[in-house]
Order: sequence, then C-alpha cells, then structure tokens
Amino acid sequence: MDKACQSPGGAFNRRIKTHITGPEHRFAITVAPELAPLCLNEARSLDIPAPELSEAGLEFTGRLKDAYACNLWLRTASRVLCRLSSFRAGIAEELFYKVSQVPWELWLNPRIPIDLEARVEYSRINNEGRVVEIIHQGLDRYFGQIASFHSAEGCGPEAEKRGPVPAEPRQKILVRLIDNHCQISLDTSGAHLHQRGYRLHHSGAPIRESLAAAILLKAGWKTDTPLVDGMCGSGAFPIEAALMSRRIAPGLGRDFLFQKWPSFQEKTWEYLRRKALETSLPKTVQPIVGVDLDPGAISIARENSDRAGTGGDISWKDMDFFDFVPGKEGLRKGLVVLNPPYGVRMATAGADLYEKIGAHLRLHFKGWRYAVLAKSRLEAAALGTGRMRLWNIRHGGMNIAVAIGAV
Ligand SMILES: C[S@@+](CC[C@H](N)C(=O)[O-])C[C@H]1O[C@@H](n2cnc3c(N)ncnc32)[C@H](O)[C@@H]1O
Repeated sequence: MDKACQSPGGAFNRRIKTHITGPEHRFAITVAPELAPLCLNEARSLDIPAPELSEAGLEFTGRLKDAYACNLWLRTASRVLCRLSSFRAGIAEELFYKVSQVPWELWLNPRIPIDLEARVEYSRINNEGRVVEIIHQGLDRYFGQIASFHSAEGCGPEAEKRGPVPAEPRQKILVRLIDNHCQISLDTSGAHLHQRGYRLHHSGAPIRESLAAAILLKAGWKTDTPLVDGMCGSGAFPIEAALMSRRIAPGLGRDFLFQKWPSFQEKTWEYLRRKALETSLPKTVQPIVGVDLDPGAISIARENSDRAGTGGDISWKDMDFFDFVPGKEGLRKGLVVLNPPYGVRMATAGADLYEKIGAHLRLHFKGWRYAVLAKSRLEAAALGTGRMRLWNIRHGGMNIAVAIGAV
C-alpha cells in the first residue's frame, strides 16, 4: 500500500499480525443461491476450512490467506467478504460507540474511498440512510482521534476531502442491522469476481463468466471430453471451459481489493499465484470449439481469449451452427452448449428456433450432452430431446431455464 499512509512501522505491523493476519476471521462468499452448491464444491476442493451454505451463499472461518485463495480460484462466486464486527445496536448512540471501537486503521487503506451500504430490518434504528450516516460519523470520529498516527499527507476516510485519491477501487463496507444486531463486513474482492479481466468487449447479451462456468459444472462437463458452444458470442463458455481444462485460476489476470489493505501479505499472495501458475496445464485435454455466424462476435471472442491466455486452446468458427457437424470435425462425444439470442434486448427466439436446434442435435449430436439456455420451459420443451432437467437461474435480470440432458 501507499507508504505515505502506512503507520510508523514496527508497532503497527505487530498490531496487524495480532489482530488481522494472525487470527482467524469469519468470511462470507456471496454467490447467487442457485450457484451456491456448486461454489461449495469448489470451496471444498480448495481446502477452505469447513465452508457451509448460508444466507449470503457460503461462510467459513479461516485466515486472510484463505480469502486470497477464494478470490483467486472460485469460478462461480460473486465476492468474498470479511465479517469485521458483529454487535448489538439498539439505539443510534450504541451503534456510533461500537463502530468507533473497531480498529479501522488496521483494516482500511486510508487512501481508498469508502462506499457504505446498509440493510435494515426489524430494528429500532429503522432507516438505512441513518445507519450509513452514523457509521460515517463513527469512522470520522475514529480517524479524527488517531489523526496524529498518520502522515501529514492526510489519511482516513476524510482523505477523500483533503487530497487527490484514486477513483478506483472503492472499499465497499456492508452493514446489516437486523433485529437490532449489527454486522459489518468488508469486501475483499473489489470488482465483482465474474470480471476476470479478459472480456473487455462483448457482442451483445453476454453471459457472466461466473454463470458460464457454473453452467459447465452443472451440466457435468468433464474436461477430458470436447466442448462446443454453437452460439458463442463473445466467447464466455469456450474461454471458461479452456480455463477449467487447463486448471488456470480465474483470478490470475486481475487485481483484488485486499492487495490494497494495510495487512496485505505480498509473499503469501505471490506464493498462491506461483503455485497456481505451476499447477496449470500447458494445453487443454480435448478440443474446445466456439461457433457463431457473426464474424464480428468471433473476432471479439478471439481477442477475449487471447487476453485470457487461452488463445491457442479454442477453435473459433465463423459459421451457422446448423451447418456445424461434430463428426466432420473429428470430435468425439462431449458437451454442446447453446445460449441462443432471446430476451428483452435481443430478437426473441421462439419455440421454432428451439425445434430447429433439437432437430440438429438429434441428427448430428447423438450421444452428446447438452445445456441450452431458454426463456421459459416452453421453449426448452420444444427441443424435443426427451428427458431433460430444467435448471432455473437468473440471467440478465430475467428468470431463465437451462435445459440439461443427453441427446
Ligand atoms: C445471446 S448471444 C450469446 C452470448 C454469449 N454466450 C456471450 O457470453 O457473449 C447469442 C449469439 O448467437 C449467435 N447466433 C444466433 N443464431 C446463430 C446460428 N444459427 N449459428 C451460430 N450463431 C448464432 C448470435 O450471433 C449471438 O452472438
């Protein structure tokens, strides 16, 4: 972090070790409810200590390094939060007093502006704006009291007012006041975890990278079988598949908020990254193919893939999916995924498109597994591919169904 805002050395570092990096903390992994069981499997495979399902998604007790690993490795998660403090707060004075008891300077980088978000339910302080105001006052009071501790350049949340601070990132602080019980959490991630850093452009109606990874996992795609995305757009499915196949950590190409914290353990982070690089495979096990009839989409997908480091792993085909025959490409059976154009912003795909997809699958993809996104179960049923599971998810602000089955 910024040296100017760091504290006077040894004593501060000892406090960081005693209060922040040494002890365990409670962490929450926020994730859409339908993706939570998949995320739980991912967390277990990372050796995160005893992760369990919770209202936020998942929770676990561990050290900061476990939160680093979650940010680096979880493909389906949204954010990793650190539960900072939890206390009773029946009245405004109590909330103010307890907020000003938190050792904030050990957690916050004073040069990073704060975004406070509050949720209030069944509490005597029954107004979210009031909670935000009290917490701001508590922080100002706290940093006011320890002002002499910081350099003259200006630190603390007040620094925003006193000097130039970078616009990004911002430190999200989430406050829940439920039943007069206050829980304060700090975001460790920064940008949402679906933002891996590779997709700078898209070709319309993109799917979140975390959701694309979740659909591949839910459909039971095995990395030793081929993957075809027949309507790939900007390439999220093929790129996520290539990352999975090569065991590349999804967070290797981006930064996280915890790297700006006073407690940041650079050596630990470098070790985790180095280990991730060492354990990744040089190439995918089986072919991964992205097909789209829009040449512009294919060129965007190619660029995204190059940025993700999977440029050499995916065959991009600028053609109509209905002309794509896996047998002619020498592919053995695998998973075909389709995210056809539909929805509010795109031309609506009706049952006839799904009938056509179903017919093409039955003719040329016998024995393949499929995952097809549809606006409703009506379109999914029009595939006519026999028994299927319908997985209901949220995507692009809509409820949609993913039809999963075998042809
Ligand atoms: C909803 S977008 C896919 C978005 C993609 N999953 C992403 O994350 O960017 C649908 C894509 O299907 C493509 N498409 C539509 N009909 C097609 C067809 N018959 N063959 C191949 N691609 C098609 C469109 O060009 C568009 O890029």
